[in-house]
Amino acid sequence: MTAHSCRGLRSITDLTLMPYHNRKVVLEAFGEPGAAATLKANSIAAPGTGEILVSTAYAPVNPADLNILEGRYGQLPALPAIVGTEGAGKVIAVGPGVSDIIPGDKVFYLSRTDCWQDYVTCAAHQVIKLPPKLPGEASCMLKINPATAWLLLHQDSNPNPKSWIVQNAANSGVGQAVIAIARTRSQPTINFVRRRELIKPLLQAGGNIVVMDNDEGKATALDAIGGDPVVLALNAVGGESALRIMSMLSEGGIHITYGAMSKRPLKVPNSFLIFKDLQIRGLWLTQWLNSAKYAEIAKVYRKLAGLMLQGKLQQPVDSVFPPEEISAAITKAAGGGRSGKVLLDFRTKGNE
Ligand SMILES: NC(=O)c1ccc[n+]([C@@H]2O[C@H](COP(=O)([O-])OP(=O)(O)OC[C@H]3O[C@@H](n4cnc5c(N)ncnc54)[C@H](OP(=O)(O)O)[C@@H]3O)[C@@H](O)[C@H]2O)c1
Repeated sequence: MTAHSCRGLRSITDLTLMPYHNRKVVLEAFGEPGAAATLKANSIAAPGTGEILVSTAYAPVNPADLNILEGRYGQLPALPAIVGTEGAGKVIAVGPGVSDIIPGDKVFYLSRTDCWQDYVTCAAHQVIKLPPKLPGEASCMLKINPATAWLLLHQDSNPNPKSWIVQNAANSGVGQAVIAIARTRSQPTINFVRRRELIKPLLQAGGNIVVMDNDEGKATALDAIGGDPVVLALNAVGGESALRIMSMLSEGGIHITYGAMSKRPLKVPNSFLIFKDLQIRGLWLTQWLNSAKYAEIAKVYRKLAGLMLQGKLQQPVDSVFPPEEISAAITKAAGGGRSGKVLLDFRTKGNE
């Protein structure tokens, strides 16, 4: 089969002619992330009734993937396991009974944690269709960070969407999506970063106040808002940084911890609860994906994809690696100081 005819697969009959070679990133024992993952190969299964076969294009390396490789995450797979909490690609074949998805549709994997492989055979409801014009790089980063930012801003935890919110790790994927989504509803943001060179780009991206994550930065931010209330603090770091943004909340304000990049615990002063009645909460996207109805989830992703298409929501890319360089990709993703996400590029398959 030529490369051209293989890309044009439209049916299971065609699929049976396909050389079955699937590169997959496998975790056999939890450990140091760069060393824990290895590239293996297997054959792919043709889609059965109600199933589709997707050819992965890109997949990002997220902090959750690193935590899973380390064995420190809320939900761990039975080993050995294929890795990858996020990825997107194109449908290349559909099984009997699938009517709303056709070969050629671009999709991202919704309820899969095995996205780091060339092909995924899955139930049609385990993907969400993407606008055809959304670039592959953006498509593979739609599921986790933009949706997390959306949830952080659209729950009852954000009762007054015109008041200030404050966040740390503001240059992260989630942080940049928070700035973008808050902007669409004219909600002003105070943004803490740990590198001075990030201040200008985040101001240009629409952050209202961007300061260094230290006491001087906090004083500058408080001075700038001049006594206006701060209703919501979004914490992806923990430790001193979490305490700093929490301390800026007004009476009755809400602190949501959704990440722990510093791996330091959250210490809440008694006075914050007694005298300020702060509410301390958590948020996990997985819990929403597991509990919300498919139609509601699809609606949120349509809105987020629309923002991406309009250029109002961006997830920058730091670097792109082929699957063969998985160890280097993970090491790069685990290091600080990136200018965006590390992506795995699965587009060039050995058999296409
Ligand atoms: N709860 C959920 O459902 C959910 C969903 C999505 C993400 N998350 C969590 O949200 C956090 C951000 O994820 P992301 O994908 O947006 O991140 P990302 O784009 O990979 O960026 C990582 C961010 O963390 C900062 N950072 C790295 N190491 C740090 C350390 N030791 N101390 C303080 N800051 C550090 C980085 O700062 P520099 O750029 O300066 O290195 C950067 O701002 C992660 O903890 C992730 O697990 C949670």
